[in-house]
Amino acid sequence: MDKKFKRTTVTTALPYANGPIHIGHLAGVYVPADIYVRYLRLKEREVLFVGGSDEHGVPVTIRARKEGISVQDVVDRYHNLIKDSFQKFGISFDVYSRTTSETHHKLASDFFRKLYDEGKFIEQVSEQFYDEQTGHFLTDRNIRGECPRCHAPEAYGDQCEKCGATLSPEELINPYNAETGNPLVKRETKHWYLPLDKDQPWLEKWILEDHKEWRPNVYGQCKSWLDGGLRPRAVTRDLEWGIPVPVEGAEGKVLYVWFDAPIGYISNTKELCDNHPEWGNWETWWKDPETRLIHFIGKDNIVFHCIVFPAMLKAHGDYILPDNVPSNEFLNLEGNKISTSRNYAVWLNEYLEELPNRQDELRYVLTANAPETKDNDFTWADFQARCNNELVAIYGNFVNRALQLTQKYYDGLVPACGELNEYDRETLAEFGDVKSRLENLIENFKFREAQKEAMNLARIGNKYIADCEPWKVIKTDPERVKTIIYISLQLTANLAIAFEPFLPFSSKRLREMLNMDTFSWECLGQTDLLPTGKQLAQPSLLFSKIEDDVVQAQIKKLEDTVKANEAASYKAAPVKENIPFEDFEKLDIRVGLVKACEKVKKSKKLLKFTLDDGSGTDRTILSGIAQWYEPERLVGKRVLFIANLAPRKMMGEESCGMILSAVNYNGNLSVTTTLDDVKGGSQVG
Ligand code: MF3
Ligand code: ZN
Repeated sequence: MDKKFKRTTVTTALPYANGPIHIGHLAGVYVPADIYVRYLRLKEREVLFVGGSDEHGVPVTIRARKEGISVQDVVDRYHNLIKDSFQKFGISFDVYSRTTSETHHKLASDFFRKLYDEGKFIEQVSEQFYDEQTGHFLTDRNIRGECPRCHAPEAYGDQCEKCGATLSPEELINPYNAETGNPLVKRETKHWYLPLDKDQPWLEKWILEDHKEWRPNVYGQCKSWLDGGLRPRAVTRDLEWGIPVPVEGAEGKVLYVWFDAPIGYISNTKELCDNHPEWGNWETWWKDPETRLIHFIGKDNIVFHCIVFPAMLKAHGDYILPDNVPSNEFLNLEGNKISTSRNYAVWLNEYLEELPNRQDELRYVLTANAPETKDNDFTWADFQARCNNELVAIYGNFVNRALQLTQKYYDGLVPACGELNEYDRETLAEFGDVKSRLENLIENFKFREAQKEAMNLARIGNKYIADCEPWKVIKTDPERVKTIIYISLQLTANLAIAFEPFLPFSSKRLREMLNMDTFSWECLGQTDLLPTGKQLAQPSLLFSKIEDDVVQAQIKKLEDTVKANEAASYKAAPVKENIPFEDFEKLDIRVGLVKACEKVKKSKKLLKFTLDDGSGTDRTILSGIAQWYEPERLVGKRVLFIANLAPRKMMGEESCGMILSAVNYNGNLSVTTTLDDVKGGSQVG
């Protein structure tokens, strides 16, 4: 790391407290940040890890109204749930607070007021959409209407979820209040704007020239914003929930959530330092030029952290600016977009219950598959394969062999190392530069590669012990086995350190099994971490297999969600034009008793029905429902059919009429019948 920095402040995007968090959050932001922070701590660097919940904004208010509870209840519930999930996944925040805290309200309010007093904002009156019946101005997210691009009927004021278009509410056709359905009118309102256009020159230099090292996705997004030309941005809103705008005549207005939330990083630091003096003065973490500031975020947050927040910090003065903003792309789930509103996700609180004590497994897979440079897909099959073929079969297997053999041959005492042969030396040499390789990768935010290196170490160990076959050699050359086990144990100790940032739970257990007292990053690569004669604790398995049924259950759960969403979003087709009663009377609908039903040869679709239609002669009808019914299931049933449809030939057979089936929302067909036993040939009308 750059010598000019003494300490690091690491922040992670404050998740909205409008729902639980899911694997996408974990993979995109919190696991990478936690790896980074744990690494710095192992290196005995000064580091502060800040997290918290984002409790303002519109989504929490929508959720509250939907559930009929107060907004405070919503944010309390999810703040606690989220905080608990983070803790259980080992995300090692030094502070995790919330933007409804008193400290934050005061700090954010003062921040705004200082900029206001110094004339850093512009005031502007504009026309906004207004619901005359409720007396509310609406935010983009609360406005819905027809999408001007794809004509989906329910696009949001900022985005169409159907076609993905970015929209502004003005573009919507027939905008209405998303909650009440009321039509909207335009009304004038005053707001304060951050004149980002004036920041354009220094931002261009600071990002495009001085931070070429930022990840290409981050740099690229910034460049396209800058190339497009920055415009003033409103930092206030007409809402009730939020931090009141601390200016006279601004009643009914609050700070825009994206203005107050990033200040939350600072407030949470202040809260920690105020309550725990050992952390020093909060300003050291935010104003000292020797502090390095790193923001971990997801890609939808880039503009706020690279452009808007730095502009705010600069306008305020005294603050340091971020040195890097490692942002990930998105994680998909089984090929689909993760969605909080559609409940399509692997929720962390549910994972913890359904796959108990497997936090490291998820951390491992999310890092192995991290969307560092492009969107990636999480699948349960991949999860299972990585757990079983890598964690269990390589890392776990190697460690278990080394530890079990130590118990078996030496009562758990580290044996003495004899003379090394060529293979021993080669193996140890591969460990030699792992420290610098890992450092290089982690410091450049390449966690995926870094974890691969660590796993590679386990692979080397696994191969070493398999090649050396101590369980065979023990019969011929017991002295040699001491050396093999000694080396294996040193490799094991190295693994415990190397994996600590990635898999903290198993590292801790391994460390306990090894009775390791010194556990510092600096020891990595050393081959005398466990001295001869040291007593090790009783070993137990580090990882166990993920069974098929566990994975199947998870996949089924997701499929059920998709089905439920489809059903919920189904809208019946519009009713056809009215017809006179006489037209209806022309149709002869009847009940038929199914005497026989069979598949039509060479047709995937058709079933051939033989009906008792009350006429005394059997009637044959062909119906395209073979996909949904085994023919046997229909025999003996009563079905409704049209008796006077002109006969038609299909696949060489004559069909006299049509069986009536309902078309379900998903296209499935379901044959209609009567509630009670009715004789074949009865008329329906
Ligand atoms: N709540 C925002 C989101 O989930 C992130 C806020 S990050 C902060 O996208 F910087 F504003 F805190
Ligand atoms: Zn659209």
